[in-house]
Amino acid sequence: MVDLHCHIIPGIDDGAKDIEESLKMLRDAEDDGLREVIATPHFMRSRFEVPYEQVVEKVKKLNETCQEENINIKIYPGQEIYLNRNTLDDYEKGVLGGLNDSNYYLFEMNLMKFDKGIPDILYELSLHGITPIIAHPERYRYIIEDIERINRLIHEGCLFQLNVGSIDGVFGKKAKKCAEELLNRGVYDFVGSDGHGIETRKAILRKTIVEQKKKNMEKMLYLAENNRDFLKGEFKPTKKKLITTKGKLFSMFYGKGI
Ligand SMILES: [Fe+2]
Repeated sequence: MVDLHCHIIPGIDDGAKDIEESLKMLRDAEDDGLREVIATPHFMRSRFEVPYEQVVEKVKKLNETCQEENINIKIYPGQEIYLNRNTLDDYEKGVLGGLNDSNYYLFEMNLMKFDKGIPDILYELSLHGITPIIAHPERYRYIIEDIERINRLIHEGCLFQLNVGSIDGVFGKKAKKCAEELLNRGVYDFVGSDGHGIETRKAILRKTIVEQKKKNMEKMLYLAENNRDFLKGEFKPTKKKLITTKGKLFSMFYGKGI
């Protein structure tokens, strides 16, 4: 099993504090059945600014430590990039990178407020051949309030990654409900632990997936297969449908704009 989103590199962001915590997270992940993990430290100006090149070096070192410690997991480089008006500038500076050095970049956004400039930024990024994967859309307040708002991101060709913790209720009832709705509507492409440590946000996937009711479990297993195909270089994005909600007057383009 492959985890596509995890803060496993020690001392680089708000994930693993030190190598001991990284190793404990990796041992938990191994026990859970994970064999491959993409390390996605935050990249956020003035908070976490480790360039992709350095992430690659740190991943190499962590893989060496895993071998020494007999942990049977391979780690790949990535970033979780805070999407905002600085993103294009950072991209041009060469400090950003995709998951396992691909053109698929993992982005997070402001949890509370949608920046209206984002669709234009996504369009510019697409001109550079970048396919955005939006991390945990079920956690954004504006999407929780009206899931049709995700249409604006679907329209820009975004893919979406579910946090297992959202399904577990770690981020509250509203995020859980939103995650289930987006899952049922086939919006997600990938699943991730978004693991940050050894307590509530662990670096594990399988436990949550197998605890789900049959229908949810099948859908989440499909996402886990996508994770695997992604690392094999065989993943092909499917075309998404825009979301309409029952009983609402559907506007011709994106539903209610963000
Ligand atoms: Fe994350």
